[in-house]
Amino acid sequence: MKTIKIAVLPGDGIGPEVCRQAVKVLEAVAERFDHHFDLQTYLMGACAIDATGNPLPDETLDACRAADAVLLGAIGDPKYDNDPSAKVRPEQGLLRLRKELGLFANIRPVAAYDVLLPHSPLKTERIKDTDMVIFRELTGGIYFGEKGRTADGEGAYDHCTYSRHEIRRIAHLAFQAAACRRQHLTLVDKANVLETSRLWREEVREMAHQYPEVTVDYLFVDNAAMQMILNPKQFDVVLTENMFGDIISDEASVIAGSMGLLPSASVGEEVALFEPIHGSYPQAKGKGIANPIAAILSVAMLLEHLELFSEAALVREAVDEALNNSVLTPELNPTAPYTTEEVGNYIAFWIADSNEKQWNRNNVEIGISTII
Ligand code: IPM
Ligand code: MG
Repeated sequence: MKTIKIAVLPGDGIGPEVCRQAVKVLEAVAERFDHHFDLQTYLMGACAIDATGNPLPDETLDACRAADAVLLGAIGDPKYDNDPSAKVRPEQGLLRLRKELGLFANIRPVAAYDVLLPHSPLKTERIKDTDMVIFRELTGGIYFGEKGRTADGEGAYDHCTYSRHEIRRIAHLAFQAAACRRQHLTLVDKANVLETSRLWREEVREMAHQYPEVTVDYLFVDNAAMQMILNPKQFDVVLTENMFGDIISDEASVIAGSMGLLPSASVGEEVALFEPIHGSYPQAKGKGIANPIAAILSVAMLLEHLELFSEAALVREAVDEALNNSVLTPELNPTAPYTTEEVGNYIAFWIADSNEKQWNRNNVEIGISTII
């Protein structure tokens, strides 16, 4: 039996609690399919700064490089958010990890689940049947350009640069995804103002000839932000640069009903990394109210990346089961909420033995098998 090495970086805030459920799900998959996952945990983010002074210790980076995949919870801590003068920040660890591993494409699927339609603040008829995937460039643009303060200390700058190469490599992935989906790609940019955006448009227009089956649209980011709420069904594959992708994917999460549902995959040159799109949500830390589904669906994406398709399908099926039976955390089930751990247990038990369809709430609560 081949051992699959997975580096787990729980991170900060709710990261460790949602990661624990994701790991439980991987263990259930291992049991059900007779795999061996070697799951080792490493420090990254504010917890790594506290322990070592470095948000991305060498040990963590080396372990990620040596792994078949990386699973990440979330990073960030209010003590840094509220201190703009902090020189060392948890986010630096994540950005450096993305850069070091060459994770240039961040893939964020957004779908409206029928059972959750009433939970979105958006009208059902607008969002029903939405199914899109955002391809966000992850290692370039304003996030990684030169930044600093002007000599007189009166100003600051963040440079945004993109090379043709950086644009082409992610655009190819987005075109390929569109070709396998509804053959529609939307480039989101600000080409009426930004030179980098004009380069994106030039490259994508040129590449479109190689994908004649794919229809390409171009939208300015301000309009795209509006269209995302007004008529999200029009989107199939959305391709965009780093910062626009960060903003627009948080916006799109409203369609799904909760940010706690959205997973992501970051792929590129080396090992791939999987993480929920939500942040560390420090206010919820330790309360058992964090939704573990985004982390669990990140596991499904991880399994697909490793070409373990039946395994991934079963994880998705178990998540659907939780959604359909309202085994959900308070933001999606305010009247009879389940805890983070109960949702994780339910999904993991279902995977370990999905032949049995009946379950019992009392058993979910005490953490034993839900099968009666
Ligand atoms: C994300 C996050 C990160 C980003 C932060 C934590 C640096 O918001 O993954 O979307 O901006 O990329
Ligand atoms: Mg973000």
